[in-house]
Amino acid sequence: MVRWLEESVPMSQSVLWDLVREYYEDRGPDAWSSADVPTQATTNCHMAEAYAATVLAWAEALTPSDEPVYVLELGAGTGRLGARVAMALQRQRLRTSPAVVVVITDLSRKNIDACKQHPTMQPLIAAGAVDFALLDLEQPGPPRLELRDEELSATAPLALLANYIVDSVRQDAFRFRDGAAHELWVRAGIPEGGAVADVKLDIKPVPLGDSHYADPVFDDLLRVYAEQLEDGDVFIPTPFLRTLRPLVADRETLFLCADKGHRYVPEWEGQPPAVVAHGSISVTANLHAVAHMFEAMGGHAWHADSADTSFTISACLLTQQAGVEEHVTRAYAHWLNDYGPADFERLGDALPEPSELSVELMLSLIRLSHYDSSTFAMLADTLPDLVDEATDVQREDLLAAMPKIWERHYRIDTHECVAFHLGRTYMELDLAELALPFLESSLVDDGPDFAVHYNLALCLEELGRDADAVTHLHLAQAFSPDDEEVFVRLQELADKRAESA
Ligand SMILES: C[S@@+](CC[C@H](N)C(=O)[O-])C[C@H]1O[C@@H](n2cnc3c(N)ncnc32)[C@H](O)[C@@H]1O
Repeated sequence: MVRWLEESVPMSQSVLWDLVREYYEDRGPDAWSSADVPTQATTNCHMAEAYAATVLAWAEALTPSDEPVYVLELGAGTGRLGARVAMALQRQRLRTSPAVVVVITDLSRKNIDACKQHPTMQPLIAAGAVDFALLDLEQPGPPRLELRDEELSATAPLALLANYIVDSVRQDAFRFRDGAAHELWVRAGIPEGGAVADVKLDIKPVPLGDSHYADPVFDDLLRVYAEQLEDGDVFIPTPFLRTLRPLVADRETLFLCADKGHRYVPEWEGQPPAVVAHGSISVTANLHAVAHMFEAMGGHAWHADSADTSFTISACLLTQQAGVEEHVTRAYAHWLNDYGPADFERLGDALPEPSELSVELMLSLIRLSHYDSSTFAMLADTLPDLVDEATDVQREDLLAAMPKIWERHYRIDTHECVAFHLGRTYMELDLAELALPFLESSLVDDGPDFAVHYNLALCLEELGRDADAVTHLHLAQAFSPDDEEVFVRLQELADKRAESA
């Protein structure tokens, strides 16, 4: 039985959005631990490399200034994208590039605290490459940078990264059908014992008056939909756009976002209101509305070419400086559109099972992913077993890739066991001394289990530390008391000890 939580209200006033906020504020980083809320597509190394290159092309085209360029990641969640962008900026920047500071922001105090304490953030904090801020995208006003203990400059150039945000923030909803325009009012309810992901919406169309927003930018948007749509339901993240507008109004701004969303008006045609559950809930992002606002402010917008809007990339630019648009147009085409992060994502989805891939193809994928640790983890059940068949050159390529994978790894609690897989791969490459620290890390990161103790035992035996190997074999036995291989190894080590006594 559904427990209704409110009377019908305009969608942006619904308690639905309070539940979404509560979900993220209460769960903090746990929102991603069971992979409930998707994040790999928006925070992988390919995405970070492409965003960093586009931001750098833009920043380098700006008139030099004493102020650093800020990259504000909105609704950063785990902070994985921001950290990887900061690392990529360090790798890609020239000595003459302007100083860039990545600011990780979110609504949730728990997320910001976890980001600040994350091991991968520590060298970036020490280098002054990152800062952190609580930022509620429904509350206008500049964020306060917590490490620098100052408000974000009102004039410094600002790049905004907004991945899976336009679909997750408070929305208005409208229906345009047969020449009539309605606002969709909703009543949110939750079945007994349910959570935000189980939310039910009772939808009531209410006739839309003229000048609904009393704001020419958004009223003009409604007019465009009324004129062009025969039958479509449209979301508009108006509170978010209203927060964004004063933040970007008087400065050089680049806005980059990746989302499931619609770029052009006809894409809304024939669409019922889609509210999707994934731990929390989200809607189809209105990237057209974001572009409309920037264009109304005198800016320029780009949308990715692919018609597959289940994952797409958009960019918007506000500039008063000559030549900046040309640089961003070129960078956008190269890094974000042609073989951009959305194409990389589709390529990944279309791959056959890892067991059907050759070593060469796996190495290509690792490089194309820019050494993304989740891409490596996806291959890692098969890859170590193929090391025996690899040529010397392929082994060298793998050895060159592994430190990069580890350096760019940003651990979130998704049981990918990257340290374990790196350790196991080093073992297969007969490099026990390199494997040991990874297998030891895996005990801490992923927790003890049979495979970690057993591989640690093999590694320690290889390094001549037989007593430690026996300890780990016993620990492995505690997880799997009847394992044959453990018996055999224990017996062989006992025989060896007896022989040398
Ligand atoms: C779907 S997650 C996306 C996280 C991250 N950008 C990614 O791609 O993995 C939405 C994020 O937006 C944050 N968020 C939701 N509403 C917000 C608001 N009003 N202001 C700021 N952040 C918000 C949540 O805390 C969460 O981290």
